[in-house]
Amino acid sequence: MSTNLPNNLDAFWMPFTANRSFKKNPRIISAAKDMHYTSHDGRQIIDGTSGLWCCNAGHAREPIVSAIQNAALTLDYAPPFQFGHPDAFKLATRIVELAPGDLNQVFFTNSGSEAVDTALKIALAYWRAKGEGQRTRFIGRERGYHGVGFGGISVGGIVSNRKTFGPMLNGVDHLPHTYNRSEQAFTKGEPEWGAHLADNLEQIIALHDASTIAAVIIEPMAGSTGVLPPPKGYLERLRSICDKHNILLIFDEVITGFGRLGSAFAANRYNVQPDMITFAKAVNSGTVPMGGVITRAKLYDALMTGPEHMVELFHGYTYSAHPLACAAALATLSLYKSEGLFEKAKGLENTWASAIMTLQNIPQVQDIRVVGLAAGIDLLPKDKPGISGFEAMEHSFNKADILIRITGDTIALSPPLIMDENHIGEIVDKVSQTIRAIY
Ligand SMILES: Cc1ncc(COP(=O)(O)O)c(C=O)c1O
Repeated sequence: MSTNLPNNLDAFWMPFTANRSFKKNPRIISAAKDMHYTSHDGRQIIDGTSGLWCCNAGHAREPIVSAIQNAALTLDYAPPFQFGHPDAFKLATRIVELAPGDLNQVFFTNSGSEAVDTALKIALAYWRAKGEGQRTRFIGRERGYHGVGFGGISVGGIVSNRKTFGPMLNGVDHLPHTYNRSEQAFTKGEPEWGAHLADNLEQIIALHDASTIAAVIIEPMAGSTGVLPPPKGYLERLRSICDKHNILLIFDEVITGFGRLGSAFAANRYNVQPDMITFAKAVNSGTVPMGGVITRAKLYDALMTGPEHMVELFHGYTYSAHPLACAAALATLSLYKSEGLFEKAKGLENTWASAIMTLQNIPQVQDIRVVGLAAGIDLLPKDKPGISGFEAMEHSFNKADILIRITGDTIALSPPLIMDENHIGEIVDKVSQTIRAIY
């Protein structure tokens, strides 16, 4: 058996990881191809999560790899402030072609967290340019995840991501989350119950006054807190309340962007037009860090004022539109198109949902939510919260040869869109074996 285990694990402070436990029993991934990872001890591990919701085209795909190699040889880096390179413009054009309506411009970042903070800053800049600089409040939602920047954790709704880090942005309020087990348990797709929860926005607006609110930000499907599909009609209702009070609506599509729900964006699937979409991850199938914000024409137009030699928005990153990330994204979008992966995801959705729902026969499975090619499976907690989830993650990787994601005692699945029906069967078997093994 080949091994590829580093001698010293001490120096790397691992993100969102139980460091001490990991370093006692490391789960090291050494290689990846298509639907599989290779563990340090040479096992083939099926990827049940597209890495971290990123690798929608599967792993180490040749056209993407070549594009990155060529970019590194041709143009390793170009400054994005006051200069540009061809692929950045080509990619922005390709992305706006996929987005609905007049979402016409793209501001590139390097991650979802940066995309979120950028969207919040664009909202503030927009209102100031429109002469309504008093609109500074943001409304997020409980159980929302918007990355780990100070803006993102402020509008986010995950207690452990917030409680350690002080007062954050002030002036933020939150909508209630949309999950209710007694009304929605074991629903395939969008639940019937819950559209009325959007009306809480009216109460929040009444409390603060619309004139103080810049934007509402939500994930159309909350991914990181366990796959919560939007109730039927909920997003439409939020949109119409935002319209009524002239408040911007931001969809954080860092997870839902690029095919996860069987369309380019969740905005396309639900036919609801946000004012901004944040994206990252699957834009280049996770190969090179990249994120961005797609903005409606009115936002860009409002800011294109002042003397023409002057910078219009004092914001940007050294690596915005990095040549390697752009080349990888152009190749990835071509692959999504030539292999029809968004349509394929849509075509597989019912098969996926039915297969995943068979897990409800396991007595310790308390609820399953499934939408697009994603699923959240709630496990019966053990004596302390998080133990069942942690044991499932360890067992699945070490014994069942599948990579899953956990949040608390919930398993989240989001395999690459290249999977076929056999892979679905294998994933369900391995998850079933895992759950049965830990109780
Ligand atoms: C909806 C959403 N927004 C933002 C982020 C943050 O992205 P990143 O980890 O690239 O900063 C994530 C990451 O999972 C996410 O799911």
